[in-house]
Amino acid sequence: MAYLLGVDIGTSGTKTVLFDEHGRTVASCTKEYPLYQPQIGWAEQDADDWWIASRDSIAEVVAKSGVDKRDIKGIGLSGQMHGMVLLDADGKVLRKAIIWCDQRTAAQCGEINALVGPERLIEITGNPPLTAFTAAKVMWVKDNEPDIFDKTRKVLLPKDYVRYKLTGEFASEVSDASGMQFLDINRRTWSREVMDKLGIPFEWLPEVYESYVISGKVTREAAQMTGLWEGLPVAGGGGDQAAGAVGNGIVRPGVVSSTIGTSGVVFAHLDQIAYDPKGRLQTFCHAVPGAWHLMGCTQGAGLSLQWMRNQFGQMEQALAQRMGVDPYVLMGEEAARAKAGCDGLIFLPYMMGERAPHLDPNARGVFFGLTNTHRREEMIRAVMEGVSYSLLDCLNIMRDMGVDPSQVRASGGGGKSPLWRQMQADMFGTEMVTINSSEGPALGVALLAGVGAGVYASVPEACDAAIQVTGSQAPIAENAAAYAAYYPIYRNLYTALKPQYEAVAALQK
Ligand code: XUL
Repeated sequence: MAYLLGVDIGTSGTKTVLFDEHGRTVASCTKEYPLYQPQIGWAEQDADDWWIASRDSIAEVVAKSGVDKRDIKGIGLSGQMHGMVLLDADGKVLRKAIIWCDQRTAAQCGEINALVGPERLIEITGNPPLTAFTAAKVMWVKDNEPDIFDKTRKVLLPKDYVRYKLTGEFASEVSDASGMQFLDINRRTWSREVMDKLGIPFEWLPEVYESYVISGKVTREAAQMTGLWEGLPVAGGGGDQAAGAVGNGIVRPGVVSSTIGTSGVVFAHLDQIAYDPKGRLQTFCHAVPGAWHLMGCTQGAGLSLQWMRNQFGQMEQALAQRMGVDPYVLMGEEAARAKAGCDGLIFLPYMMGERAPHLDPNARGVFFGLTNTHRREEMIRAVMEGVSYSLLDCLNIMRDMGVDPSQVRASGGGGKSPLWRQMQADMFGTEMVTINSSEGPALGVALLAGVGAGVYASVPEACDAAIQVTGSQAPIAENAAAYAAYYPIYRNLYTALKPQYEAVAALQK
């Protein structure tokens, strides 16, 4: 039996999982680390925390699995996207990494548009400048920390720093590299034009590979620290979204995933490159060779229900503790007692501003249509419906671009809720399915490593070997009709409120 290791360097911690060649979990371990927020809207992490967590979780998984280390055929790396690690000429980290959710770079986004040209930037990189992307972060360092900029010799993504520590190689792969905004996603190679226009040295970029390609081998030193064998192949891997999609089997047209974590993401595989000219969706290279993906991100998905639980769910939390269940299960049961459409109560989930479809940092959450007959059931259900409407917004932009899914795969914490899955089936008008594994990104990159190491012939074949559909929910006509009636009102509410959002933002400046 061949075994494959997936390492997912997330924001709260690194999760390492050892899988067998059928995609079954053999052993796993998560190691956490801190997030630093030196100012409101700033978010930084220590790149060496990622390495230490990766090194120690690999060592623990290898030791507790009982598997002969020589039977481990490859490692794949996944990670939080967009983070910026700067190294000096000796390969030493120059400052804390500025990560994906950091919002300090609004001015640099304007600069990037001015230097490259907004249309040209979308043509080359697939996207408008976003505060999340690495390019804006490097420009921020250029503008604000010139001494650090002068000492910089390499810029790496979070998982690619871990690769450097494991293999000694400076390398990346196309899916995560797309999120730096330095990649020409048409040619799947770095864009000299973008680098020159931004005034960032081209030599700072690592080698870029297709995601399954072996980018390096575990060094003797790293092998001693982790219990792996010297020379073990390390595949390119993927940014967490593309890797998670491989782990959900989103590697062919026609199947889309909907992930409800803190944020919510609708993800589609593309055989031909396509952009949303308004920049509401992101187009990136997929971790499948010769394919791209479209991604719509709603910022406050699970986050909205978590807010509801924390602020108003004391009763559910106390009861859940006594019953030994998850409070979200009890909240889901309550919400199921309300009718679809919540008797006119509509929630806008813009509690963290919104990425798709509005690209509006000033948007805010709203309960609309409250009456004195509404109960907690409707309040909870309205939050879940509002998040689902927002995911429908993303799916509808994809549909306008020619994506026609016959099936949507549920994942993330929110995907565990049967009610939330049913709501999405009713709104999307498609079958909503669950699969056998919830390891997402770690499984995805383990499968990519399996392709690189020759265990599987291709990425779709790897997914076929490891991923099976385990459940399916079809739309319920009566609910679908209620949602279809309320959805235009949900849409109109944002348009009506936009001037008020701007007025509130001006007051809070
Ligand atoms: C993707 C994105 C997040 C981060 C952190 O664009 O911002 O998925 O990768 O998980």
